[in-house]
Amino acid sequence: MRMRRKKNLESRVEEVSPYLIHADLSCLDSRITDKDKHFAEMVNFDLSIPLVIELGCGKGKYAIDYATQNPTVNYLAIEKLTNVIIVGAEKAQELELKNLKFLCTGAEYLERFLPDNSVDKIIINFPCPFHKETYHEKRLTDIRFLKLYDKYLKTDGEIALKTDNQRMFAYSIEQLSLYGFVISEVTLDLHNSKYNEDNIVTEYEQRYTEQGLPIYRLIAKKRKQ
Ligand SMILES: C[S@@+](CC[C@H](N)C(=O)[O-])C[C@H]1O[C@@H](n2cnc3c(N)ncnc32)[C@H](O)[C@@H]1O
Repeated sequence: MRMRRKKNLESRVEEVSPYLIHADLSCLDSRITDKDKHFAEMVNFDLSIPLVIELGCGKGKYAIDYATQNPTVNYLAIEKLTNVIIVGAEKAQELELKNLKFLCTGAEYLERFLPDNSVDKIIINFPCPFHKETYHEKRLTDIRFLKLYDKYLKTDGEIALKTDNQRMFAYSIEQLSLYGFVISEVTLDLHNSKYNEDNIVTEYEQRYTEQGLPIYRLIAKKRKQ
């Protein structure tokens, strides 16, 4: 997602600090010894309820809608671009949502912060497809990422993926299957399927749907239940 740098970004980031966490990059070079304590202090959530995370949340429309509709889960929305994530954080602050936080960092670093076996669900909506074959490791469903998710996703946890991109969808199915995830609830046209009932539309989804593109969607579980 390309955006011009927003005006007064630094002061806006400061103003939404209760909702926008910036990953402490100093800890990227060293292991965090007590991840549970560090994470609890970082997010300041009631950690007795389920934790859902979203990777590449963009401007956070989906996160806002999900957290509003599901007040009994904690939602951590992750995005690497500050000038994009700020939009969601400002909205969350305006709505005073208690169960939503935005974390500005790359998904590749999350394993440093998230305690093992702590996440109930990982949501990946319209990930960048990184078409060039040499960039496959940047795809959020590449095996490199699945290995990281495996550490913090609970044993009965799941990944929910939506995309408009057929190649990305096929690649994701291949990688998830190779890694041992069990794939279910697959549809090649989400909006005309039985899974559409509780679907929350993302910003990109809205755009692609207006262009007449079908939406691909799947659920991947760590183990057969
Ligand atoms: C195509 S946009 C989709 C935005 C939103 N999920 C939606 O459906 O409207 C993909 C987003 O993922 C972010 N992104 C890509 N790779 C990422 C990574 N490794 N870590 C965090 N965010 C990432 C991009 O900056 C971009 O905002």
